[in-house]
Amino acid sequence: MTPMEILGILFLLLALYCGIDPFKHSAISGFPDFKAYIVDMPPKELIPTVRDKENLLQKSEIKFLNQVQGPESIAFDPLGRGPYTGVADGRVIFWDGENWKDFAYTSSNRSELCNPKPSLLSYLPNEHICGRPLGLRFDKKTGDLYIADAYLGLFKVGPEGGLATPLTTEAEGMPLRFTNDLDIDDEGNVYFTDSSTVYQRRNFMQLVFSSEDSGRLLKYNPHTKETTVLMRNVQFPNGVSLSKDGSFLVFCEGCKGRLRKYWLKGEKAGTSEVFAILPGFPDNVRTNKDGEFWVAIHCHRSMYSNILAVYPKVRTFLLKLPIPTKIQYLLQIGGKLHAVVVKYSPDGKLLQILEDSEGKVVRAVSEVEEKDGKLWIGSVLMSFIAVYDLA
Ligand SMILES: *[C@@H]1O[C@H](CO)[C@@H](O)[C@H](O)[C@H]1NC(C)=O
Repeated sequence: MTPMEILGILFLLLALYCGIDPFKHSAISGFPDFKAYIVDMPPKELIPTVRDKENLLQKSEIKFLNQVQGPESIAFDPLGRGPYTGVADGRVIFWDGENWKDFAYTSSNRSELCNPKPSLLSYLPNEHICGRPLGLRFDKKTGDLYIADAYLGLFKVGPEGGLATPLTTEAEGMPLRFTNDLDIDDEGNVYFTDSSTVYQRRNFMQLVFSSEDSGRLLKYNPHTKETTVLMRNVQFPNGVSLSKDGSFLVFCEGCKGRLRKYWLKGEKAGTSEVFAILPGFPDNVRTNKDGEFWVAIHCHRSMYSNILAVYPKVRTFLLKLPIPTKIQYLLQIGGKLHAVVVKYSPDGKLLQILEDSEGKVVRAVSEVEEKDGKLWIGSVLMSFIAVYDLA
């Protein structure tokens, strides 16, 4: 045989291996219906290139180390107390100034399955039983806390806490499958995201690999108790935040790395447009007291993910190789942890960027909440809350 023939046979064997995946080693082996979709990436020249060369996020203070597991969302109540945060075992907990106290939970079926575990990943199998609170928001008038639970839907609990009441678990007949984040307007309407109707939170990596577009932006009306779909066919919608004047909201498009603006009032009500192209792939967004938007960037853009975004067939092929899911995911997010937070003006201008490009101190960010000149930074991948002093 010639070298070319040997190479040809090896290639065939590899293709056969990937096709059959006999040892179920691939990142998508448990997902027979997996399909990869094109991500229509923003034009390169529109992607911000500014960097924080000083890695200012590394100056953050680490708080509550090993007292909070995977705090995604951080909220303060209308009296300024807190923080409150949702953790990996399904509880919403409250810092009373001295200790963490249990505040609320979404599952009525909690058991020893929800007890503390050695690693963040070991909570995943029971999340649908214990609940997994992601987005948190207080209604400033009533003091009620609204909770987006990734598995159980949208909830509300009174200022005294305890078992939260479910508000909605479906929209237009389609169950919520990955409730992610929410905000509330002055009339008590809740705007929230369902990241996918195919993949649940514990499979968020497969959702990223697939980039399927069943994600939705939704509205819950407390008077009619109806949930309506405001936008559909979104690839991994994530954080959502109302503008200071309530005339629009912005929400994160996870796969495209954009912020989209959805008009709630005025002539353009009900329409949407691109608000900002982000330097990476976003998680949550929060509005500060000046009406500016802090966006938590889960990871920076990389050449690898930019190229694979437009070649779903190549992506599928690579995913069939016997490479562990975590490694595939790490490649997808640029090969390393890289925390970024960005601030945008109310009209979409990039104002500030803070980074920890080595993930040294702030390993990753899910949310940034500004309070009294400080940024409170939570992440589903951290066992602490990072606090950055803006002064
Ligand atoms: C309650 O939790 C148990 C496991 O502790 C599970 O087997 C059961 O299906 C759950 N019930 C409901 C209604 O979710």
